[in-house]
Amino acid sequence: MLSAVERTMEQYILGLDDPEIFQLYQRLPSGKRLRAKLIIKIAGNGMKVIKTAAIVEMIHAASLLHDDVIDDADMRRRKPSLNALYGNKPAIMFGDILYSKAFFELADIDRRVARVISGAVVQLSQGELSDVALSQKFNTDQQKYMRMIYQKTASLIEASAEAAALLADKDPKPYRVYGRNLGLAFQMIDDLLDITSDALTLGKPALHDFAEGKCTLPYIYLYEALDGSDQVKLRSLHATQLTGSQQQWIMQMMHRHHIIPKCFAQARSLIDESISLMNDAGEGALSKIAREMIEREY
Ligand code: FPP
Ligand code: MG
Repeated sequence: MLSAVERTMEQYILGLDDPEIFQLYQRLPSGKRLRAKLIIKIAGNGMKVIKTAAIVEMIHAASLLHDDVIDDADMRRRKPSLNALYGNKPAIMFGDILYSKAFFELADIDRRVARVISGAVVQLSQGELSDVALSQKFNTDQQKYMRMIYQKTASLIEASAEAAALLADKDPKPYRVYGRNLGLAFQMIDDLLDITSDALTLGKPALHDFAEGKCTLPYIYLYEALDGSDQVKLRSLHATQLTGSQQQWIMQMMHRHHIIPKCFAQARSLIDESISLMNDAGEGALSKIAREMIEREY
């Protein structure tokens, strides 16, 4: 049914009647379509469901276009990002087109669904702003990190699950929690991958987040585990272009203090909670999606 989502997105873009926009659209890497999969698994494949899935994927794609400009990223999903190919201005404006067209279509779906999705996009934008603000300083506050990843990533996944439950006349509550946990775990794993994957596997340089100023969970835990002089050293490396030996030192410290398994266990416990929620609701297929998330190569 994912192909129906792809077709719907294509129709929305073709409806804009602008070949240049369609060309930009064709340059977008399609990604895993996690949010669309989730919506269809919860709500089936009715017309409104497919449209909601297409709308959410367009919003997600728009947010990544903007994020790559904000992060100055020249790769996305192992391909050159649109900002790298065409510059920041087309990437920003194409993002604007994608998400405003998505909202235009959302208005016709269902009032409750529209409120849930648009509310999440407000969160998403607040989360991105908070990500940028947090990366200006060396952040050691775990709560601030969790709140930021909830807003930046989990809110739209939570809203996707809730909107799908509403469309399917199911009790939205367990689906919300499922989506939230999945989203938090997804971002935690993404942040781990920045440390554990090499540039080739991940499509962006390793330890890129820290060089960019982002103190993700592994750095917060590492800082807590280090002694005074090593804490000073870690702080001094924050938001700098790391040399090979500095990268090695960070990796050594991560290994010595078992930081990667600690963060992974935290993501896994969120996933385990979602799996048991969905098993209780008789939604085996949703447990599978959650399991796949944790089984991403990290
Ligand atoms: C990726 O984070 C970023 C997000 C999940 C959210 C981005 C949100 C905005 C730019 C707000 C604007 C919203 C719209 C709809 C235009 P990351 O940089 O940690 O992940 P990455 O490694 O995949 O880049
Ligand atoms: Mg980014």
